[in-house]
Amino acid sequence: MTGRKSFGSDNHTGAHPAVLRAVMEANSGDAVAYGADAWTERVTAQLSGAFQAGGAFLVLNGSGANVLGLSVLLRRHEAVICAESAHINTDECGAPERLVGTKLLAVPTPDGKLTPELIGGQLGGRGDDHFAQPGVVAVTQSTELGTCYTLAELRKIADFCRASDLRVFLDGARLANAIAYLDCSLAEVAECADVLTFGGTKNGAVGAEALIVMAGGLAADVPYLRKQQTQLTSKMRFVAAQFGALMQDDLWRSNAAHANAMARRLADGVRDMDGVQIVHPVQANAVFARLRPRHVAALQRDWTFHVWDERDSVVRWMTAFDTAAADVDAFLAGIRATAGL
Ligand SMILES: Cc1ncc(COP(=O)(O)O)c(C=O)c1O
Repeated sequence: MTGRKSFGSDNHTGAHPAVLRAVMEANSGDAVAYGADAWTERVTAQLSGAFQAGGAFLVLNGSGANVLGLSVLLRRHEAVICAESAHINTDECGAPERLVGTKLLAVPTPDGKLTPELIGGQLGGRGDDHFAQPGVVAVTQSTELGTCYTLAELRKIADFCRASDLRVFLDGARLANAIAYLDCSLAEVAECADVLTFGGTKNGAVGAEALIVMAGGLAADVPYLRKQQTQLTSKMRFVAAQFGALMQDDLWRSNAAHANAMARRLADGVRDMDGVQIVHPVQANAVFARLRPRHVAALQRDWTFHVWDERDSVVRWMTAFDTAAADVDAFLAGIRATAGL
């Protein structure tokens, strides 16, 4: 890693100072363990209110939140329909299959988004006991490709799923970025899902994610499942304090809006550059671009970012709550210099 700002991921960043202050403030005296503390009670009530949900539960990381969320929704013979690019399919070491014991029905999509048509195409084995029965549709908002479902698109999926006896799970590791892009409320997205996650880690926390369960009835099992899945941390107050800081004055929204604005600045800066092609709409905090392979290698000597698709020479540049305009401009100068090679 160079001393320059990383464009590798929004979890290459440190934590927001307000989050660290909140953790320090929570470090005063003793508190009852396992979430029976004032910080957890306060922030979970706040989260339930903001999402208009039946319950909110804090966990330590996004993969754990996904496994817990899916386990709440799935019966033992059921499968999950998801986009091929979904984090649960590509980046969790098979955790949903191994830990929940489900089958993922992964659907190729051009933009990381499912549609009722794509979901409907996976229902052929319904009623046949040789097939894992589709029970849950998993969407990611914002998607792994930096795109966002519109509210209308999410509502269409929700309506289709309700009419088709399917539950909706939403991976919201970057939900804040999507909400900032759509300029809507948390509750407007949440009403399209049965269970969703709300990421803090990529948006200024040290490590904190929330599982939001919309129906009160479904929430009853979560404490037991969370403990079984080793996501019930004993010093929960420190996780809660992080979310408390993000919820204060909607810091989660301003952090995400800033990260999105920096991605737009980056995208605008390369749009007319020779040899650089943006391959997905830039709607959240990621820019996917195609460069010549020799330019990728040259740029990587000075800058940190992921090669997303080596064969197609597509890279992913991510911005975060603490990416400065000057960081973007310096990176743009680097891209411009390399693209001229
Ligand atoms: C869309 C999405 N979901 C879930 C996760 C999992 O988060 P974690 O690395 O905290 O397990 C990530 C992390 O990159 C992600 O991008």
